[in-house]
Amino acid sequence: MNIFKEPGEMHAWARKQTLAGKTIALVPTMGFFHEGHIALMRLAASRYDLVVVSLFVNPTQFGPNEDLDRYPRDFERDMVLLKGEKVAAVFAPTPEEMYPPGFQTEVQVRTVTTHLCGRSRPHHFAGVTTVVTKLFNIVQPDGAVFGEKDFQQLAVIRRLVSDLNIPVKIIGHPIVREADGLAMSSRNTNLDPANRAAALSLSGALRMAREMAGRGQTSVAELQEALENYILSFSATAIDYVSFVDCDSLEPVTRVDERTVLALAVHVDGKVRLIDNGYVMPRTGE
Ligand code: PAF
Repeated sequence: MNIFKEPGEMHAWARKQTLAGKTIALVPTMGFFHEGHIALMRLAASRYDLVVVSLFVNPTQFGPNEDLDRYPRDFERDMVLLKGEKVAAVFAPTPEEMYPPGFQTEVQVRTVTTHLCGRSRPHHFAGVTTVVTKLFNIVQPDGAVFGEKDFQQLAVIRRLVSDLNIPVKIIGHPIVREADGLAMSSRNTNLDPANRAAALSLSGALRMAREMAGRGQTSVAELQEALENYILSFSATAIDYVSFVDCDSLEPVTRVDERTVLALAVHVDGKVRLIDNGYVMPRTGE
């Protein structure tokens, strides 16, 4: 497996593979791998000749009081976890290589970034779309795989590639969950046992919404009240949002139907911000 730290070297290698007729999938990550990341890599490997994994904790997508310093990092551990996976190259640049002195460009998607996470994290998505554009330019992959846990991020990236005619196929991978329902996230490592119990309020709320909708309760106002009370019944939880939105536009809805996604963001113990989502009326198998 090749490890590249420098954008020029990464680009030269990828270009050589493309000229040799190989297709490339990029899996953009911030590292501290878990089964969810491995699932993205395996999906990428099942569809493309070569998989490139980028590993970069992107400072520009964190706000001033967010968890950039606490975000878990362990490069050696990550490299061990990649052993046995079909990953041809890892791109792990430093912030200085990605944002050298004089850097002053930002790529911004407008409307779809204003809801949900965009409200409490106003600069987050510009950081994501800028770094993803850079990664696409450096690696020039044929496809890229993103997790559906970051439901809004996936919608924003689909918008980005469509609006800017970026020739990369965007593939979403369903949320990978722990046995107890907690959506896998690198941030879960920052949960102590008491907080981990509270973290289950997100998947529990999703289950509750599905049960209530299954019994014919489709009023968002009533579902929202029930879900917020449920989440706040767990110790040390603070709600960022409990939102019922259209799956494409991400606009809020007042009644749930087959297109409605419940999107959740909850702070646990003031330290860990967790997100989760899912269709409220999933078709069989979702
Ligand atoms: O989803 C993530 O891990 C990050 O937002 C991404 C896409 C790697 C950009 O930094």
